[in-house]
Amino acid sequence: MSLQPLAVPKEKLKTPPLSIHTLGDRVLRSLSKNVATVNQETRLLAREMLQTMYSCDGIGLAAPQVGVNKRLIVIDIDPEEAANPVWVMVNPVIKRVVADLEVGQEGCLSIPNVFADVVRPARVVVSFRDLSGKPQAIEASGLLARVIQHELDHLEGVLFVDRVENQLALAQDLTKQKFSLRDVQPAPVR
Ligand code: NI
Repeated sequence: MSLQPLAVPKEKLKTPPLSIHTLGDRVLRSLSKNVATVNQETRLLAREMLQTMYSCDGIGLAAPQVGVNKRLIVIDIDPEEAANPVWVMVNPVIKRVVADLEVGQEGCLSIPNVFADVVRPARVVVSFRDLSGKPQAIEASGLLARVIQHELDHLEGVLFVDRVENQLALAQDLTKQKFSLRDVQPAPVR
């Protein structure tokens, strides 16, 4: 378990520091660039992303969602549990997929109130830099593996709705939430 040099209280702020861009916004479809140097600016962005994620009841957030096309993601799959580890991953890369595909329900802070099943590998090895700039790697399974892959997709301009197989149900849900199916793109081939 990597200890991050960042302690952000798991609490909801009345005014989160960052605002979240939603489906249809171009920034969500742009390719994100590597973070060249992990510095104070990176740590501040990570801190504000975590504060925003906790405030919006999210379990993961990628920098493009707050309008920054940089390869930085934050994850906490159990925000109610103070002791649950918080992951801040700079320049994350999936090195290996080590298990079969699995179906699981997903949502996204950029597409509020829309939930759908997505098929993804059940276990992945991901390498990244932590907030000290130190290289790290973990093998993740279950919900953590799913969230990592969901957030990594954001860095490529891919959204979970692109990977939903049941397009008919998805179209209905999107319309109900005033989103447009036109903003869904074909998923890239894995
Ligand atoms: Ni998302």
